[in-house]
Amino acid sequence: MDIVSFRHVWKRYPNGTEALRDITFDVPEGDFVFLVGPSGAGKSSLVRLLIREERPTRGEVYVHGLELGELPRHRLPHLRRQVGLVFQDYKLLPRLSAYENVAFALRVLGEPRRTIARRVGEALEVVGLAHERDRYPCELSGGEQQRVAIARALVHGPRLLVADEPTGNLDPGTAWEIMQILMRINAGGATVLMATHNRDIVDSMRRRVVALDAGRIVRDCPHSTYHEAAPASALRA
Ligand SMILES: Nc1ncnc2c1ncn2[C@@H]1O[C@H](COP(=O)(O)OP(=O)(O)OP(=O)(O)O)[C@@H](O)[C@H]1O
Ligand SMILES: [Mg+2]
Repeated sequence: MDIVSFRHVWKRYPNGTEALRDITFDVPEGDFVFLVGPSGAGKSSLVRLLIREERPTRGEVYVHGLELGELPRHRLPHLRRQVGLVFQDYKLLPRLSAYENVAFALRVLGEPRRTIARRVGEALEVVGLAHERDRYPCELSGGEQQRVAIARALVHGPRLLVADEPTGNLDPGTAWEIMQILMRINAGGATVLMATHNRDIVDSMRRRVVALDAGRIVRDCPHSTYHEAAPASALRA
């Protein structure tokens, strides 16, 4: 079953901005998808629909076959645990250590202390930060903070990881470290959907690329690049 399906989705914000226009696409389980497009193309809007932070104006969004528009409010926390989210600006809680940032969501659920310790330990291990677990965000580099944020996104064991410009604030080397972590997570079976402006990363990874422009999908190709390859005729001209 596809883990994500958009069916003729339109999104118009209350101020009249038409952010998404007739978006239809599917993401099979285990896929790695780059979402590209100029600023304002609608990438973050699409991400917000996936966790029902926003609702479509028209059309349907399915996650794990569940139509989000019909999802009762009390099921939202469950949905949001199934979808790991990573942002450009990490969004860590400054007064909590790396460990506590990752543990926080499990504590809220009232998970037993031993379970929390095991799962947080595993998540920090995946991102290679087990040894920095007691540091506070201000004591970590941007790349390390992003790794904590990825561990936090992983701690519920989501089958879908959605990252909105996760390397946007990082230097190229650190960005690659983050990509390697995302690739490992994908190789472990999780589906990854990543919005990015990072052309080098998209071009070297050669994964599926869904390109948006002014709210429409203008390209959806497997093993693709940031920009569509110019047709041979254009190169000759
Ligand atoms: N809450 C909102 N209310 C009104 N308009 C919005 C809102 N959020 C986004 N928009 C508008 O919707 C359009 C799509 O924005 P969105 O943030 O989805 O683009 P994006 O592709 O993520 O851009 P960027 O690459 O800069 O992050 C833009 O015109 C933006 O101004
Ligand atoms: Mg955005």
